Amino acid sequence: MSDLRTAICPGAFDPITRGHLDVIERAAGLFDRVIVAAAADSGKQTLFSLEERRELARAAVAHLENVEVDSFEGLLVEYARRAGAVAIVKGLRSVDDFQREQQMAMMNRQMLPDTDTVLFVTSPHVQYISSTLVREIWALGGDVSRFVPQPVAEALQEKRQSSQQA
Ligand code: PNS
Repeated sequence: MSDLRTAICPGAFDPITRGHLDVIERAAGLFDRVIVAAAADSGKQTLFSLEERRELARAAVAHLENVEVDSFEGLLVEYARRAGAVAIVKGLRSVDDFQREQQMAMMNRQMLPDTDTVLFVTSPHVQYISSTLVREIWALGGDVSRFVPQPVAEALQEKRQSSQQA
């Protein structure tokens, strides 16, 4: 294994938001290498395909030198093991997040004891942002550009135009 301390930021990223970016930027300051990993299996139906989610994440983190973007199928712990990650990094916005994240962290720790989950308390200015609400506001015709990175806002705009033409 290399000496580089690698962290994985996993998620559905449907789509990646400014809240995700806050966590990724802070992880990039703490770890040598960060892999943003879009999950094929997040238990949810997605608006964007796996490839679109990965490419939008790639565009959103292009300014971060030590951050890579990938996607994975199957278990997160298997992906983390293959990547040699020392940590799985997620964001915490609320008590609801805490309950879900704590449960996943404990499950993952049972399966992969050497990889810790690190939970960042989300910065207050993005604490209220969620991909689910971004999709809902977008679907109802609202402007979501303040909640998402610019490439995502453009992709949502394009999606709206192509669905109107269909
Ligand atoms: O964006 P989310 O919903 O917070 O991400 C959840 C995600 C993708 C991290 C979680 O669903 C996941 O790890 N999926 C991969 C499949 C897996 O390992 N499931 C068991 C989790 S204990």
